[in-house]
Amino acid sequence: MKRTRIIDALALTASGQTITVKGWVRTRRGSKSVNFIALNDGSTIKNIQIVADVEKFDADMLRLITTGACLSVSGRLVESQGGGQSVELQADEIEVLGTCGSEFPMQKKGQTFEYMRQHAHMRLRTNTFGAVFRIRHQMAMAIHRYFDEHGFYYFHTPIITASDCEGAGQMFQVTTKNLYKLEKTEDGKIDYSDDFFGKPTSLTVSGQLEGELGATALGAIYTFGPTFRAENSNTPRHLAEFWMIEPEAAFYDINDNMDLAEDFIKFCVKYALEHCADDLAFLCKMIDPGLLDRLHFVVEHDFVRLTYTEGINILEKAVADGHKFEFPIYWGVDLASEHERYLVETHFKRPVILTDYPKEIKAFYMKLNDDGKTVRAMDVLFPQIGEIIGGSEREESYDKLLARIKELDIPMKDMWWYLDTRRFGSCPHSGFGLGFERLILFVTGMQNIRDVIPFPRTPGSAEF
Ligand code: 4AD
Ligand code: MG
Repeated sequence: MKRTRIIDALALTASGQTITVKGWVRTRRGSKSVNFIALNDGSTIKNIQIVADVEKFDADMLRLITTGACLSVSGRLVESQGGGQSVELQADEIEVLGTCGSEFPMQKKGQTFEYMRQHAHMRLRTNTFGAVFRIRHQMAMAIHRYFDEHGFYYFHTPIITASDCEGAGQMFQVTTKNLYKLEKTEDGKIDYSDDFFGKPTSLTVSGQLEGELGATALGAIYTFGPTFRAENSNTPRHLAEFWMIEPEAAFYDINDNMDLAEDFIKFCVKYALEHCADDLAFLCKMIDPGLLDRLHFVVEHDFVRLTYTEGINILEKAVADGHKFEFPIYWGVDLASEHERYLVETHFKRPVILTDYPKEIKAFYMKLNDDGKTVRAMDVLFPQIGEIIGGSEREESYDKLLARIKELDIPMKDMWWYLDTRRFGSCPHSGFGLGFERLILFVTGMQNIRDVIPFPRTPGSAEF
């Protein structure tokens, strides 16, 4: 008999019709005469209640129905006698597809997230992670829908690259060289001419540079793919492998870019509220009571826009008034998460877009302002998260970009193709990068970025 997904079964009007459901046992309780089995198949946070009359089934089979076991159940869908659910399944046939021993790591309720991370291959079977990863899926759908509806083309940029977009040197090298027999030249360097690509290559930190090539041809593009950073940041907001969404649009200035970022992120949050109501209600109840209020708040309020310099003034005033930060605050400093969160959570109490940062703390490609000191950067800062988006208007002047590349000593031989966009029909353009997992953190209310990607990669950890 064709399987009915539990989400669909629960939406049916119960009239004693026979259906088959398949899934994993969440709990089993009961008396000598009747057993109640909560079955979940991942299609929804909700379980279907299976009612099994003990006398109808083989006792040895019933003993195999333990937490985590996989069952196929056929029976009659009826209105539920008990509270908590509208329908339940009166079992006629039960087949144990897979037994589950008591050493099942998700056997006990109320384990810590730390414990579940160590069993990340099985944590997917829990209510919390089921909710998180259904929401993650819906957010990916929202992103594609938003850009498709706004005339942005989905553009695939390479994962292996020979250039360092952010110029921060935090790249994972890619090589087929035999590290056991690594030959060095006379001056101690490695000769890459016989390596797979004939030159040093790495995993990309960002698809932006190639994205700009796409935008200055197709008008507007977005990327959505994995990016990699070998930064040794052991924080609840950093991963070594994370997914990034990078829209890039020709003829956009920084104001258009900010409008896009705000509209886009509000669309995603609204989409979550509309498409993930059950999972959000669960997370709000079990993980973060302020979650739904925060999501509604972001959708309903304008983001505050101010310059980095204005932001520094506010932070300096806070320090003068006695607020204690761990890291010092002065014009020119790269803001720490505590500073960003002070602006968002304490001062403005709403999302903030900071613009016009000192050029020294931002990447080479950002457009220089007339003051010669700041660049047309924009960071979107969110409650609980800090920076969720980083972007800018791009330097479209060939001469200014070249000067900056030389100033920063970026190897020209890697950049010739990028500079060609400024030689052949250069145009004003802008873009940004949204960290997908930071969006998921915000939308789920989870506290640690390791808990919103199925298999996190962090320093010292690449299990599963
Ligand atoms: O600010 P970032 O470094 O900007 C760029 O890479 C630009 N090339 C984007 C662009 O303009 N097209 O990174 C963008 C976003 C950050 O705001 C943050 O949300 C996320 O990517 N991010 C990380 N997320 C998880 N783990 C990390 N290690 C991250 N580093 C950045
Ligand atoms: Mg950034």
